Amino acid sequence: TAPDSPGPSRAFPAGFAWGTATAAYQVEGAVAEDGRTPSIWDTFSHTPGRVVDGDTGDVADDHYHRFREDIAIMKGLGLTSYRFSVAWPRITPQVTAEASGPVNAAGLAFYSTLVDELLAAGIEPAVTLYHWDLPQALEDAGGWANRATAERFGEYAEVVAAALGDRVRTFITLNEPWCSAYLGYASGVHAPGRTEPAAALAAVHHLNLAHGLGAAAVRRAAPTARVALTLNLAWVRTEGRRSSDLDAVRRVDGLQNRVFLDPVLRGHYPADVLADTASVTDWSFVLPGDLDLVHQPLDALGVNYYSPTVVRGWDGRGPRAEADGHGASEHSPWIAATAHVEFPELPGPRTDMGWSIDARGLRELLLRLHTEHPGLELVVTENGAAYPDVVVDGRVHDEQRIDYLRDHLAAVLDAVDAGAPVTGYYLWSFLDNFEWGYGFSKRFGIVHVDYATQQRTPKDSAAFYAGVVAANALPPRPAAGQAR
Ligand code: FCB
Repeated sequence: TAPDSPGPSRAFPAGFAWGTATAAYQVEGAVAEDGRTPSIWDTFSHTPGRVVDGDTGDVADDHYHRFREDIAIMKGLGLTSYRFSVAWPRITPQVTAEASGPVNAAGLAFYSTLVDELLAAGIEPAVTLYHWDLPQALEDAGGWANRATAERFGEYAEVVAAALGDRVRTFITLNEPWCSAYLGYASGVHAPGRTEPAAALAAVHHLNLAHGLGAAAVRRAAPTARVALTLNLAWVRTEGRRSSDLDAVRRVDGLQNRVFLDPVLRGHYPADVLADTASVTDWSFVLPGDLDLVHQPLDALGVNYYSPTVVRGWDGRGPRAEADGHGASEHSPWIAATAHVEFPELPGPRTDMGWSIDARGLRELLLRLHTEHPGLELVVTENGAAYPDVVVDGRVHDEQRIDYLRDHLAAVLDAVDAGAPVTGYYLWSFLDNFEWGYGFSKRFGIVHVDYATQQRTPKDSAAFYAGVVAANALPPRPAAGQAR
């Protein structure tokens, strides 16, 4: 075949789950309705200077009221699954560090109806229990640095699983605890905006503990459901050959990947991470028996992937680069590593987030997990790209997003062909939405949202994705100049 020939289309495994993903605070709005109380993201977004343009999730995509319209769009695209998150402050709005308090029936009813409507549309719900909207009252008592938060999470997980577990097959305990711990408590670019490295490492452990307690709670309340955890793992590499470059890879791999993977999947913390961080904390918040609680059977691991991570050993001379795409802060999320590691600017294409594009990372991550944890089912629970999309004559021509998706779906297929048991793909995101510290300035959706009118406009990428889903296959790349 000629080098630029399109080639055949490539099929995904039978029964592959095709979805999009969202998170409660990013899309729902209705922050004061039906008994919901504030989360750390309400507080943070209403604090001047924290979010671009002072944006908040007060209204967001108004998905709380428009979910039927949104489900109809998903159905029209032929999607087979929808990953959404439950807002903890809707379920136990009076929670304190001491007790979960009464369950809010109206809050549960919203998600119960959402599940029913999805099932009626032939779309399987996949429920994330924690996508960053911690009840503010728990933060006031120390947040994730406080062990009680993990205990209350276990109780909340049991409530949700008991209410929805007859209809929901997959519960994901946490989304990206790396972000909750390090961006929330070390660099402070995410809620609650604290910059306390020791608290961030306590948060790492308490999030791992919350996963374990939540997993056990889901098993009790919904014995037939699948339990998963979603991590944003890093494909870490270096272009250097010095031992300091390799040490930089080890440190970042430890802080981003192994500090979550090892306790959850192997029942211990990586010794090198404990040693690297010894000057920050003695890890005495890990109590006897905790690792048995963290190390629960897992039915699937969710992998979120956007961008590669390239590091270099740093010798302390000259200005240190930290182009890791995790938001501007004088405080680094890379606890105890900043004296040894830098993150150089990468050449090549980037998304509107400034994130480098390299689909090889998705394949490599899936293959690494397959090699290190054989038999563990893998699901891509987020992947996608932000671009500055505009509606012209009722259309959004987002070719760059289509290219991004095509390359990353090909990477998933490469991993599948090499034997990795990947069973689904969830595109981030269904709708343009509140992109945390970036507010509404970054658009990740395959459906455009006009925030003034709440008008939804499917982008060209939505049609591309619908084609992939319908065929359960990746079509050949069109020849240059040919219309998609
Ligand atoms: C992930 C988050 C998700 C979204 C994407 C762009 O880290 O899980 O909510 O913000 O990034």
